[in-house]
Amino acid sequence: MIIESENDVTPAVLKAMEKAPDARIREIQEAFVKHIHAFAKEVRLTEREWEYGIGMLNGIGKKTTDTHNEGILFSDTIGLSTLVCLMNNGANGSTETAAALLGPFWRMHSPETKSGDSIIRSPTPGPALFASLKVVDASGKPVANAEVDVWHASTTGMYENQDENQADHNLRGKFFTDAEGRFSFRTVLPAGYPIPTDGPAGEMVLFQKREPWRPAHLHFLIHKPGFKTLVTQIFVDGAKYIDCDVVFGVTKALIGDYRKHESGTAPAPDVKAPWYTLDYTFHVEPGESGLPTPPIK
Ligand code: BEZ
Ligand code: FE
Repeated sequence: MIIESENDVTPAVLKAMEKAPDARIREIQEAFVKHIHAFAKEVRLTEREWEYGIGMLNGIGKKTTDTHNEGILFSDTIGLSTLVCLMNNGANGSTETAAALLGPFWRMHSPETKSGDSIIRSPTPGPALFASLKVVDASGKPVANAEVDVWHASTTGMYENQDENQADHNLRGKFFTDAEGRFSFRTVLPAGYPIPTDGPAGEMVLFQKREPWRPAHLHFLIHKPGFKTLVTQIFVDGAKYIDCDVVFGVTKALIGDYRKHESGTAPAPDVKAPWYTLDYTFHVEPGESGLPTPPIK
């Protein structure tokens, strides 16, 4: 097709794509072209602005390595990850869900850890936290033998893979639920932390005068054949930035009761007050139990 004006471009591209054999991929690609063309027209995108946008895309690619996923970070900071999560969980967005975005820091093959053990693998400052979790199905029945990955940042605000002062897999562990659907572990109370701001995602956040911070949270990935894999985060109630999470991950269902204990007998002899406990029950839904592609190695 010979293009005569700007109005010919969108139909020409859609026509050129129409023989793509996979109907679902064709639907996605057509909608993408329609929306991105409509966006360019709506803002009357200039050539310099288009160059800037392409530079940003290239920057996301260049910044991404085996240990850093700028693409996920960008999707997170524009709310796309949370949107996709909420559309695909809680009976496809029709009910409240305990799911939340994966984020860029899940690693596969966390060290298997016995229920009750610690995930502190190198000296890590912060008050002790004893977490007791339970996994149940939609009818409230315990889900036994579910595999649960746990990960969180240290109180210095970094995940172990970002920080050479932490042992490999510090604050990460893999647990299996018992016959009552329970597992527990010891760690330190998580702290809030800023997302990396040295790439296009962080630069955009700073440009928009937003706080680059995430409120304190623990991450969980719960996996058992027959159930939809539950990826989630449990936030510390009252944490700083709880109502302005830079990646829009906080929902009411995900605010945990991290209880402070100022006196009494601590759960471990080396622990002095204050220490914290967390009790939380995860509800998993029936569905596909696939694992996400790990954002980092
Ligand atoms: C995280 O919680 O690990 C995270 C999520 C989104 C962006 C950055 C970090
Ligand atoms: Fe996190």
